[in-house]
Amino acid sequence: VNLEIKASGGNVSFPAFYGIMHEDINNSGDGGIYAELIANRAFQGNYQYPSNLSRWAPVNSATLTLKKLPTPLSSALPTSVNVAGTGKIGLVNSGYWGIEVKEQNYTGSFYVKGAYNGTFTASLQSALGDKEVFGSVEVASKSVTNEWVQHKFVLVPSKAAKNTNNTFSLTFDASAAEGGALDFNLISLFPPTYNNRPNGLRIDLVEAFKALNPKWLRLPGGNMLMGNKIDSWWKWNETIGDLKDRPGMAGTWEYQLTGGLGLVEYMEWADDLNLEVILGVWSGLSLDGDHLSREDIHLAVEHALEEMEFLTGDAKTTKWGAVRASLGHPKPWKVSYIEIGNEDWLAGRPTAYDAYKEYRLPVFVDAFREKYPKIPLIASPSIFDNITLPAGVAGDWHPYLTPDKLVLAFNRFDPLSRDNVTLIGEAAATHPNGGLGWDGPLSANPWWGGSVAEAIFLIGAERNSEKVIGACYAPGLRNLNRWQWGMTLVQHAADSALTTFSTSWHVWKLLGRDPIKKTLPVVGGGINPLFYVAGEGEKGASIWKAAVYNSTAPVPVSIKFEKKHKTATLTLQTGPEDPYGYNDPFTRVNVVKETKKDLKPNEEGVFEFSLPALSVAILKAEK
Ligand code: AHR
Repeated sequence: VNLEIKASGGNVSFPAFYGIMHEDINNSGDGGIYAELIANRAFQGNYQYPSNLSRWAPVNSATLTLKKLPTPLSSALPTSVNVAGTGKIGLVNSGYWGIEVKEQNYTGSFYVKGAYNGTFTASLQSALGDKEVFGSVEVASKSVTNEWVQHKFVLVPSKAAKNTNNTFSLTFDASAAEGGALDFNLISLFPPTYNNRPNGLRIDLVEAFKALNPKWLRLPGGNMLMGNKIDSWWKWNETIGDLKDRPGMAGTWEYQLTGGLGLVEYMEWADDLNLEVILGVWSGLSLDGDHLSREDIHLAVEHALEEMEFLTGDAKTTKWGAVRASLGHPKPWKVSYIEIGNEDWLAGRPTAYDAYKEYRLPVFVDAFREKYPKIPLIASPSIFDNITLPAGVAGDWHPYLTPDKLVLAFNRFDPLSRDNVTLIGEAAATHPNGGLGWDGPLSANPWWGGSVAEAIFLIGAERNSEKVIGACYAPGLRNLNRWQWGMTLVQHAADSALTTFSTSWHVWKLLGRDPIKKTLPVVGGGINPLFYVAGEGEKGASIWKAAVYNSTAPVPVSIKFEKKHKTATLTLQTGPEDPYGYNDPFTRVNVVKETKKDLKPNEEGVFEFSLPALSVAILKAEK
């Protein structure tokens, strides 16, 4: 394939193509990037997942009883545990499928009610065998009758544990407690977090995202925003402030959410990685298809407007801006885009979708245009979802497809006009070719052939990056102990040694490495089996991104730059012989091979190389 890359004549791209999105699926928030180590820390429950004692066990003769006391810790956390018995008793937590113990500071706290004249012992210890204690701390009691008193501590293990089969225990001397019993709630323990944020995020997982060179965070994305029922959506105002005032919610992915990873934590995540924010606001639809009526939709709009005021309002002159300031963020945040809902085409069709087209979307658009005329709006469906979007409103397309269909979608954006701007707010190869599509099971893991197909789809989108706002993979994280979707970028468990990267993480990382500011026309050559895009990179570099699909042999490539570059680096990713090969998180095998080669042009100024079948590459020409 002989190509010439022109020095000018393309289109200016949206400024930030690759991003990330997060929702709590696959225990990617609680038990994932949210660094809290204690599972079921506040016995939170609701209509769907009633409060329970899972992950907790008694120590010695203790009896653990869940109680809704007349004086609860807070209205948000009405259920607490009563620990009763004789002698040294307490309760022990097994964490999110284990706890990693290292020689580092663990910051903990718990609330107690009941008079107690003694000390508490907080310990990290092995779960089995001799229950080896790696570290413990004595916490002097401040506990009194009929009042909830918070106790804080720092626990520094003197020894790291060999594995994560560990527990956290909290014990006390029942003989010094009034009636031989105490009530506990909100028992929390954090390891060091990214940027040392209190109530913060797991360092290795934030770094795993940082390595992708993302430019934006879509928050909160996915079904979590919608909730299962009409009264249980992701209420941003219940995710802010003191943890004792966060009730959590019935997650849409079969588990209770703590609300610990809340709106402020998401914004701090964006701050820490210097990401723009695509804010998803609830559009009055729940996953069961129920949706707000024309008369009631204003309630969702007001909720969203208050959320924006919380994020961007002046600290001195707005109510919610002042609340934000009181939480340690006097400076307003920037929101780059507002997305109205999540996949509003999905649930309750056709009625709920008709309602979105007829009034739910328009009412939001009018209200936000009036209040925030400069912030671009994104509707949750795209032009490909059977909708005519209001003028100037972008769409969001979520291609979860087979590899062949992703490759077919390479040209999908070509015919769109600039009036049809689209975000790719979620995307992944989800089913193998020839499979049953959405009637069949999702793939258990991202696999090399699927990841290459994602690359081709993304290259097609980048060729249209004046119309495509950007793209991100979903779901981004998967807890190896419990997940709904096998496709992921990063797989993790309590044991940070099990944090591994899927084939798709490698491919998206490569494509995200060199942002294209402006596309450049390419002449000569055809498309398929070689798919490519060229553009202006940073500092005068020219970038060519390519992938090969459907080829049994390597594809020879000759590239001439009109700009006459003197050197170029070819970064090439190839995979295993078997296109279904994947990165097994348990063996930690990485089937993606990445090589780098410096190239010089021949006498005619042409760079020559060849790309193997099923490969992804970037040629970066400088000077
Ligand atoms: O990413 C998993 C789910 O796929 C998201 O929650 C939803 O938006 C989409 O259907």
